[in-house]
Order: sequence, then structure tokens, then C-alpha cells
Amino acid sequence: RIGFVRGEFVPLRDAVIPVMDRGFLFGDGVYEVTAVIEGRLVDNDHHLQRLERSLAEIGIANPFSIEAWTGIETELMRRNELRNGLIYIQVSRGVAERAFQYAEGLEPTVVMFPQFSRVQSNPVIETGGRIITVPDLRWARRDIKSTSLLAQVMAKHAVKQAGVNEAWMLDGDEITEGASSTAFIVSASNELITRNLSQDILPGITRRTIIEIAKRHGLTIAERPFSKADVLGATEVFYTSASTIAVPVIEMDGVSVGGGIPGPVFRSLYDAYLQDVM
Ligand code: PDD
Repeated sequence: RIGFVRGEFVPLRDAVIPVMDRGFLFGDGVYEVTAVIEGRLVDNDHHLQRLERSLAEIGIANPFSIEAWTGIETELMRRNELRNGLIYIQVSRGVAERAFQYAEGLEPTVVMFPQFSRVQSNPVIETGGRIITVPDLRWARRDIKSTSLLAQVMAKHAVKQAGVNEAWMLDGDEITEGASSTAFIVSASNELITRNLSQDILPGITRRTIIEIAKRHGLTIAERPFSKADVLGATEVFYTSASTIAVPVIEMDGVSVGGGIPGPVFRSLYDAYLQDVM
């Protein structure tokens, strides 16, 4: 695999980062994950705009324009013959003597690489997935796509141990979002509900597109917090992310939800999403 590391295209197994990189020492950096489906970057401008916002929020100058980022991504796809998968981008503040305070004007460390997968061929779409709930242990700026991901690492380990597909995170009684996805439910009164954007959740790019499609389909959309009880009473439950598109949920904490099968609202949104990108 060829990556783009500190300004050069290099075989990933040979790529190295100085140990004094602040991304390594402090998790002082941000990232993006964009899907590639049949040779096309999905929602890429929105991902790159979110990257720009994450960088601005933590005071790192964006090293590239949207056009330049896209050019590097395209070159990575070409060099790796990547037609289906993901492109990962990470920008850390740079290399410096270890100190919490940072000097202005460090050169940000950029690392990019592809991952091979077929985002659009996930068998769990047909069968439905299972989730557990875990406490949301993250910090108070979840709108920044930070590489400090210890809470998510712990949540995903719980996912693995439980043998399920994803964890939804609880802030008190309310679901914030998935460990690496946005949470949606369809209520008994046929509203599509997902938490409103704030510093409590990541502004999901797939969330944005799914809402756009739902509006086109004439669905009523309610962007507001919802509880675990709301999930139990929902007619459909699903989550979205760049790496999964959307996954229907049929069980939460061992209890059947969403009627126990992938529902029609999920299916129509999922199909429309794929149709839009292909
Ligand atoms: N994660 N919420 C969190 C906490 C996430 O980490 C992600 C994505 C999302 C969905 O955002 P989007 O639709 O823009 O992918 C929501 C990526 C895929 C990851 O960390 O691998």
C-alpha cells in the first residue's frame, strides 16, 4: 500500500513519524475518513470542509486547499488502484519538544492512506445489526473529529466482546451517537429522528446526506435528542457513517428493536444514497 506521509508518496510499511510528533504524544490532531465507491470519492467536499473546520477549531492551519487535498486523494487512489474502500487523512500539529503548550507555526504532520473494502457490500444491511449501549465517556467537544479516540477504542472493544456491530453512547438517558456513527430512529408517529447538531456530537457527513434524501422523500425530520426508551419504542433504528453508509439495527442490549428486521424507511434511504453516489 502506498501512503502519503509528510509530503511524499511512500510504501506504508516504510513510513515513519518522529516520536516527538504531537499527534503521537498528545493525540493533538484531527482526521477524516471518506468512502470510495466505484472509483469515486463520496461526499468529499463536505469531508474536506469538516476537516477544515476541525483544524480551525484547534488552531492548526490547513496545509492544503480543497483542490490540493482532492488531488492527493486522487493520486493515492491511482497509485493503489483503489476503486472501493476508504481514504484516511490525519493532520497533527507537528513535531516539537514535549510540552503541553505549543509554538505557533509548527509544520503540521499529514498522513494519508487507503483502506480496501467494499463499503457498499455489507451483508449486515440485509440481516440487520446488533448494538449495545455504553456510557459516553468522551470530552465536551465531540464536534471536532479528534484523533484522541480512547473512549471510542474502549467502546469498540466492548462491541467486540459482546459480538455485536456497534455501540451507541449514552449521556444520561439520551443517546448521543454511535461510537463511530450517527444514530437515527423512526418513531411510531413516523418521524425520522436524529440528535441535533451541537458540541455533543460529530456533524456526520452521511447524516447530512441521509437527511437531505429523507427531505426529498417527504419524510418528517426531527433533529433532537432521544432516549434509550425512544429507541425501544421506535419502528426503525439505524446508524450512518462514511465507512458503513447505513446499517439497520434489530437488537439493542439483547432486546429486539425496530420490529426485528430492517425496515422500509431504512431501505429506501439506503437505496437512494447508493443510487446518488453510483
Ligand atoms: N467515523 N460519529 C462519530 C463519533 C464518528 O466517528 C463518525 C465517523 C460518525 C459518522 O460521520 P460520517 O458520516 O461523516 O462518517 C459519527 C469514521 C467513519 C471513523 O472514525 O472511522
